[in-house]
Amino acid sequence: MVALLKVPMRLALLALLGLTVTARPATWSLATRGLVEDPTQDPFYQPPEGFENEAPGAILRTRNVISSFFGLIPNPVEAHQILYRTTAVDGSAISTVTTIFKPWVPKTDRFVSFHTAYDSASINCTPSYQYQLGTPQTSLIASVEMIIIEIYLAMGYIVASPDYEGPDAAFGPGHLEGMGVLDGMRAVSNYHKKLGLDSASPMIVGAGYSGGAIATGWAASLHPTYAPELNVKGWVAGGTPANLTGTLVFIDDTPFSGFIPAAIVGLSAPSAYGAELTPVIDSIITENGREKLDFAATQCAVADLVGFFDQSLFDTDIQTLGAGILQEPTIAKVLADNTMGVDPNDTPTVPMFMYHATQDEIIPYSDADVLVDTWCSRGASVKFTTLEAGGHATSEIIGLPDAISFVKTAFEGKTESGCSRDSKLTDSLNPLALGLNLEPLLVQLVHALTMLGDQDSEMAQNLSVLDKTVST
Ligand SMILES: *[C@@H]1O[C@H](CO)[C@@H](O)[C@H](O)[C@H]1NC(C)=O
Ligand SMILES: *[C@@H]1O[C@H](CO)[C@@H](O)[C@H](O)[C@H]1NC(C)=O
Repeated sequence: MVALLKVPMRLALLALLGLTVTARPATWSLATRGLVEDPTQDPFYQPPEGFENEAPGAILRTRNVISSFFGLIPNPVEAHQILYRTTAVDGSAISTVTTIFKPWVPKTDRFVSFHTAYDSASINCTPSYQYQLGTPQTSLIASVEMIIIEIYLAMGYIVASPDYEGPDAAFGPGHLEGMGVLDGMRAVSNYHKKLGLDSASPMIVGAGYSGGAIATGWAASLHPTYAPELNVKGWVAGGTPANLTGTLVFIDDTPFSGFIPAAIVGLSAPSAYGAELTPVIDSIITENGREKLDFAATQCAVADLVGFFDQSLFDTDIQTLGAGILQEPTIAKVLADNTMGVDPNDTPTVPMFMYHATQDEIIPYSDADVLVDTWCSRGASVKFTTLEAGGHATSEIIGLPDAISFVKTAFEGKTESGCSRDSKLTDSLNPLALGLNLEPLLVQLVHALTMLGDQDSEMAQNLSVLDKTVST
């Protein structure tokens, strides 16, 4: 199976290797602009009249698309998109899209739901748009995570990647994202015949890192109450933002503060907490703060980081409450609602693998650690791996071999029940242990990482050395 895939994948990857991720995205977008309509213009994203009466997960539209590497190189994999009905925070009906990638010789009783980290409140960063050939590549993280999707495809899994932030790019609200994931799984299950899946209840494992772990953690939390019929076999969440308040305080006034305005815009989206939150924000935001929010509403993650670099939400030049903003009752309630593990009903009922670096400089380790203890005290089965070196970005890669083997084990129903913890140093990375030739993919990831922070680029250099070692 893998051998069959190798030739076309290699061709695409060889082309890919000619590029480095550090090439200027602006050049790519100039070359490709205008080939694909963005979601505000593309009628596919508009739900048909009366869709509100459909059940969550109902299929509203379908199409085939040409997917790509970095928007530029056609990906020779079959790709479908489904517009499906899902649910807003207030319970009303909304719609969103999932993109399904199908390998040439797929396993027909299962699929992976991969929740890419788009980390942005702009609809133009939405994965279903970014994956298409000809889209300007503004969402660098989704482009890089496409390589992780390729690994799952090479293993024979159909992979679905839902736009879990919904129709108005609501970055941050866990309930919305969790329901978006679960309804995406329902939509894929409803589409089983077209995909060649054997039944309408295929086995599923859900996975995501960082922003994608907000979606994953909440989908795992809501699965028992919102979509108990889904045949989910396991969840993988790395670098998990378990506590939004904790994340906010941790990244405020750092190079990563740019995620804060994006989350404020996302939490205030109409499908999220707009009705209650927008009047509060309007009453406290300064002119300067408004500019920052307007910017975050139109940009993807990398631009967001540049736009609010080293700035503080608690600055009265941004909003008039200063440090008191976290005690403002509506804001405090929204943040508390988006902390995983607070409601005992939101406890995952199928095995979960979580991993997190102690030195993670974006998502605090301690919040994930607390969540694992909380879930375990309520009978969840969580395997938690602590990575003792590396930053946020490299940990996604370091944790990948274990994440992938957990996915495999979960599908086989062979994960251990109960909770366990272990600690790993970076030298445990051994891509060859997976029995696949992942080297070209890892090289690409390493290139991408060298653009990132100090912890990560040092780690990336170390990985390069390792990569040379394993490939000789
Ligand atoms: C979430 O983080 C905030 C800020 O660190 C903390 O005060 C709060 O207790 C945390 N909530 C939970 C449930 O751990
Ligand atoms: C990279 O390798 C060097 C030398 O082995 C080591 O001292 C350093 O801690 C490593 N860096 C990281 C981030 O693991």
